[in-house]
Amino acid sequence: MQNINSKLPEVSTTIFTVMSQLASQYEAINLSQGFPNFEVSPELINLVSTAMQKGYNQYAPMPGLLSLREVIAQKTYSLYNRGYHPESEITITSGATQAIFTIIATFINPGDEVIIFKPAYDSYEPSIKLFGGTIVPIQLSAPSFKVDWQEVASKITSKTKMVIINSPHNPSGSILSNDDMLQLEKLLKNTDIILLSDEVYEHIVFDGQPHQSAALFPGLAERAFITASFGKTFHITGWKTGYCLAPSDLMKEFRKVHQFNIFCSNHPTQYALSEYIKTPENYLSLPDLYQAKRDLFLSLIKDSRFKFTPASGTYFQVLNYSDITNEGDVAFAQRLTKEYKIASIPVSVFNLNNQDDKVLRFCFAKTEDTLKRAAEVLCRI
Ligand SMILES: Cc1ncc(COP(=O)(O)O)c(C=O)c1O
Repeated sequence: MQNINSKLPEVSTTIFTVMSQLASQYEAINLSQGFPNFEVSPELINLVSTAMQKGYNQYAPMPGLLSLREVIAQKTYSLYNRGYHPESEITITSGATQAIFTIIATFINPGDEVIIFKPAYDSYEPSIKLFGGTIVPIQLSAPSFKVDWQEVASKITSKTKMVIINSPHNPSGSILSNDDMLQLEKLLKNTDIILLSDEVYEHIVFDGQPHQSAALFPGLAERAFITASFGKTFHITGWKTGYCLAPSDLMKEFRKVHQFNIFCSNHPTQYALSEYIKTPENYLSLPDLYQAKRDLFLSLIKDSRFKFTPASGTYFQVLNYSDITNEGDVAFAQRLTKEYKIASIPVSVFNLNNQDDKVLRFCFAKTEDTLKRAAEVLCRI
């Protein structure tokens, strides 16, 4: 056996796989991984089947089906008042994760610094490391997870190549405000820093608050890749379809890598989505759908011993359990799965040095019945 010189020696099975396996082994209610357990729109499923019958079964164009890119351009213009050219500034990807990986592969060279905010979605760091980038982490703290922009300013150096933001934010459920975006815009002005704005939960924002897309801010949009996920928006995480937006000079470089990374994304799905998103209600109804689930879940656990600030966005709610036990969050999450049969994600796994704030992340993208059963358990703890 040859000696394998691992490029990612510290990476092992992700916590999502670990917790989902534990959940199935102990027949626990699985609120760990971020996926919905309710039905996909029958119309969308029929559209995929129609696409297959119509013959959309071979390779799609490398940047994606033009009709889908055209409706994405219309949607982005109507929501964020910014025109992205369907030919040169929009690319369909196999989920946001592939877009993120390809963006990092395209621009990060050994020694480049990338600022990320912790807790962070777990694909960012290994992707940066694979291309020799240096991670510059900034830890956000519960319960507000607010960004200290002075701290960000102090971390920007001549080597900073990229800043990655994610709003609405997984796992905290917090969102960046208009003021946050203006501060970031000011910091990046007169630099060559690329912004990767991971906006996969753009349509899941609550209490009437607007989503502050990087597209809304000229000084950010001119340097930004914005990543989006149809999986998150239409409860089809298994279809792994998404897209990214960027100015044409950046997108041109992205596509050089994209074409040798996957070449193109799934064709019938793209046809179906190009029809489905012509009806804005299909994505504009999301805040109401998920806010009702958040409110139901939180009202049912309001008398439990968990403490919380209601999530402002995403379909995750973090719960603080420091009134219950001093146990570390990984041990507590495992015990809850085995003894109480409810699975969650310990937030420390996304933190710098695994900082343990005694918070667990619960996914509430579930049916009313699942949320009721979960709440019953949580109230017994
Ligand atoms: C912040 C964030 N970015 C990206 C993704 C991945 O999206 P996709 O399933 O489209 O690859 C997720 C999924 O959990 C996420 O939470």
